[in-house]
Amino acid sequence: MHDTDVPLIEARALSAGYGSQPVVRDLDLEVRPGEVVALLGPNGAGKTTTLRALSGGLLPMHGEARWLGEPSRAPLHRRARQGLAYVGERAVFTRLDTADNLRVGRVTTEQALELFPELAKRLRTGAGMLSGGEQQMLSLARALCRAPRVLLADELSLGLAPLVVDRLLRAVREAADRGMGALLVEQHVRKVLDIADRVYVLHRGRVTMTGTPAELRGDLDAIESSYLAEKTIHATDGFLRPIEVNAPTRKAGLRDALARAGVQRVVSLGGPGGTPPGLSDDGFHPLQRLMRWVNDE
Ligand SMILES: Nc1ncnc2c1ncn2[C@@H]1O[C@H](COP(=O)(O)OP(=O)(O)OP(=O)(O)O)[C@@H](O)[C@H]1O
Ligand SMILES: [Mg+2]
Repeated sequence: MHDTDVPLIEARALSAGYGSQPVVRDLDLEVRPGEVVALLGPNGAGKTTTLRALSGGLLPMHGEARWLGEPSRAPLHRRARQGLAYVGERAVFTRLDTADNLRVGRVTTEQALELFPELAKRLRTGAGMLSGGEQQMLSLARALCRAPRVLLADELSLGLAPLVVDRLLRAVREAADRGMGALLVEQHVRKVLDIADRVYVLHRGRVTMTGTPAELRGDLDAIESSYLAEKTIHATDGFLRPIEVNAPTRKAGLRDALARAGVQRVVSLGGPGGTPPGLSDDGFHPLQRLMRWVNDE
């Protein structure tokens, strides 16, 4: 069995944020070998910030971010060499093909195909041309095939079809069964609860609920409704006339709301000229991927 006595990653009374403003406050959280831990919460709750603070991407303002049992200020690349895998946004090189993405990630195609045989026919396809699901399989293959001690993944399954989500989550569960720890930020609440050992729910930077999936089943509705924060979506109808729709940005409710409003094409998922909460200044935001999903479907 795995040594479950020492958490792989741990936050103790951790506060972290940007500039002088903490976004996540007084956080206590841990991930032990062999467990899948889900981190849930609405847009802007501080989930991505938590992952950054736990992976060395952001230094703590107060409290401790511990790595392998010790307080650590080591940057992400050093932790990566020590077995930390981070799957965030833009996790593939879109200008390289699938095989080259694996090579750059120092993963053999044999290892990757063992995990995701679906990629076999896509080895010479540019990663930018892969479907969203294939891109995430590629990112996850790059992360899991190096046998990390711990995986931190941010919205692995956003905008993906349910069967693909199952596929990705099952791969994470199997790696955890072999001893890896995983911390998953997920929007598919019910699906992730099926594979998670423990759950933290974050709201406005604080943990508001924690427990096992069994303990939280009764609160599922409350958890899911906290995801249904509405945003004004700018879109066009079939005659290219602009329309505004107030819709939940989480995928489940978004599709219905847009269909009811007769939306043909989404122009922006923020307010007027506004930045959606949680939009990071580096690379693709989950909302952008969501928008591509809506427009390409
Ligand atoms: N690079 C940054 N600089 C300044 N503020 C930021 C930065 N990234 C995030 N924030 C702010 O921190 C808060 C929490 O953002 P974070 O991205 O951690 O939330 P989240 O729970 O991951 O949200 P989402 O579900 O939208 O991904 C938000 O108010 C956001 O505007
Ligand atoms: Mg986020």
